Amino acid sequence: MDLNASLLQNRLDNRISEYYPQIGSTNDRALDWLAHNAGAGSIVVADEQTKGRGRLGRVWYAPPGTALMFSYLLRPTLDELPYIGMMGALAVAETVEALGASAGIKWPNDVQIEGKKLCGVLPEAAWQDTTLIGVVLGIGLNVRIPFQGTAFEATAISLEDVVGKVDRLEVLAFLLERLDAWTRHLASNELYEAWRGKLVMLGKPVTVNGMGEAVHGIAEDVDRQGGLLVRDDSGALRRMVAGDIALG
Ligand code: BTN
Repeated sequence: MDLNASLLQNRLDNRISEYYPQIGSTNDRALDWLAHNAGAGSIVVADEQTKGRGRLGRVWYAPPGTALMFSYLLRPTLDELPYIGMMGALAVAETVEALGASAGIKWPNDVQIEGKKLCGVLPEAAWQDTTLIGVVLGIGLNVRIPFQGTAFEATAISLEDVVGKVDRLEVLAFLLERLDAWTRHLASNELYEAWRGKLVMLGKPVTVNGMGEAVHGIAEDVDRQGGLLVRDDSGALRRMVAGDIALG
C-alpha cells in the first residue's frame, strides 16, 4: 500500500489533509469543507470515488490502488479564477517531467503523454450569493490503470507505463509543491506563458466541439483567460471557452 491516512500525514508535514479509502467525490467533500473554514493548501485524497466526475458532466472512475485522485483547496481572488485549471495541468506536467518523461497539455487542461490522456483537472468554485469563497482543484492522474486491451487503450495512458514503478505518495508530495509554488504566482505572465508553452495543438488544424457546435479551423492561440482562439474555415476568429478539441 503506497497511500493511506497515516502515510499521508507523516509525509506531508504540516499540510491539513483528509484521506478516504472510498468517497463519493473528493471535489464534493472539498467544496463542503471550503464552506467550513478549510485553509488554502488543504487537500482531500481518495483511493476510490463512487461519484467522481470529470469535465462536461462526464463520469470519472479509477479502480482502488490505481490512480491519484485528490482536490486541492484555494482561496483565490476573482481575477485569479481563470488560472487555476492552467496551474493544475502545468503542475502535473512538471511532475511528469521531473520523473523523466515529457508531457504536453491538450486544451484546456488535459495532461498527455505520447498523445494519450494521463490526467484531467476539474476546478470548481464555491460561492456564497455572489461572493467567491474558494475553489477546489480536482486532479485525477492515471498511475497504474491497466488500459491495455480495453476501449481506452488508444486514448489513455498511465504514468507507470512510461516511467516505471512510482510511489503515489511521492508523486503527490512533488505535485503539491508545484501547486503551492504556482498558487503564489496565480494570474502571472509566468504561469500563463508556461501553460501556453506546453499546449500541443497551437498552430494546427483542429475541430472543437463546444457550446453546442463544432468549430473547424486552425488553433491560433490562447488568451490569458484560457480561451482558445480558432481561425475558422471562413476566416473568422472564434473564441472557445469550453469544449473538446481534436486534431484535424
Ligand atoms: C476531466 O474530465 O478530465 C477532469 C477529471 C477530474 C477528476 C478528478 S478525480 C478527483 C476530483 N474529484 C472528482 O470528482 N473529480 C476530480
